[in-house]
Amino acid sequence: MQQDQQTSVAEALSAINVGKSLLFGRERVEILKDVRMKVNHGEFAAIVGPSGSGKSTLLGIIAGLDTPTSGQVFIDGIDVTRMREAQLAGVRNQKIGMVFQAFNLIPTLTALENVEAPLAIGRHPGDATSQARAMLTLVGLAHRFKNRPNQLSGGEQQRVAIARALVTRPAIVIMDEPTGNLDRANSENVLQMIREVQRETGTTFIIATHDATVAEAAQRTIHLLDGTVAA
Ligand SMILES: Nc1ncnc2c1ncn2[C@@H]1O[C@H](COP(=O)(O)OP(=O)(O)OP(=O)(O)O)[C@@H](O)[C@H]1O
Ligand SMILES: [Mg+2]
Repeated sequence: MQQDQQTSVAEALSAINVGKSLLFGRERVEILKDVRMKVNHGEFAAIVGPSGSGKSTLLGIIAGLDTPTSGQVFIDGIDVTRMREAQLAGVRNQKIGMVFQAFNLIPTLTALENVEAPLAIGRHPGDATSQARAMLTLVGLAHRFKNRPNQLSGGEQQRVAIARALVTRPAIVIMDEPTGNLDRANSENVLQMIREVQRETGTTFIIATHDATVAEAAQRTIHLLDGTVAA
């Protein structure tokens, strides 16, 4: 209970002086420098910036998939940069939904099974299949439950990935170019869905995007330039 009280006062996300550098031979390349950002609960934040500015790297660190060289990231008040993998996997399963540039669907599973997967892995209440069906229906794929990823278009795969990210009702959804492979109509659908889920469930969205329509819909925009937050 104390944990709940603590998390209710903390921001959904807080990044403090996050740095990431990699060694190439003798040269150290700084990918992120002193990145500071905060996102409140229920907020829709966009991360924008030119190609190579560090958006995907930052999202990877926020999601706890990558470790920063310096600094800290708090999700709901929990420092994910100092956490062991097993514990982190639990936080990701319970609190974070992710959609990547490449959709990362499991090729041998059907659309329905892909969406059920995170429910089966973690401890989540209710019937996994009916929740997965409802979420796929919400993204307009009620007619594609049994298709495997290679039997789906790019836009359909993207929507399965979004359904999979939302099905666990995560507190935070992190998306890397969710509309990058979609045509205008499907981009609008995804944006519409994000808005609906945000309004109905108070989910926090952190979205890296080149899409001006998505960026304009955000309540907070973080501009990255050469690995650092531009004023
Ligand atoms: N694992 C890695 N090894 C080497 N360099 C990397 C690695 N990951 C990222 N980089 C470099 O870090 C910089 C930032 O990359 P990142 O993918 O975060 O950019 P981005 O803003 O997401 O770009 P895009 O808009 O093209 O997706 C790039 O210059 C990239 O070459
Ligand atoms: Mg990227």
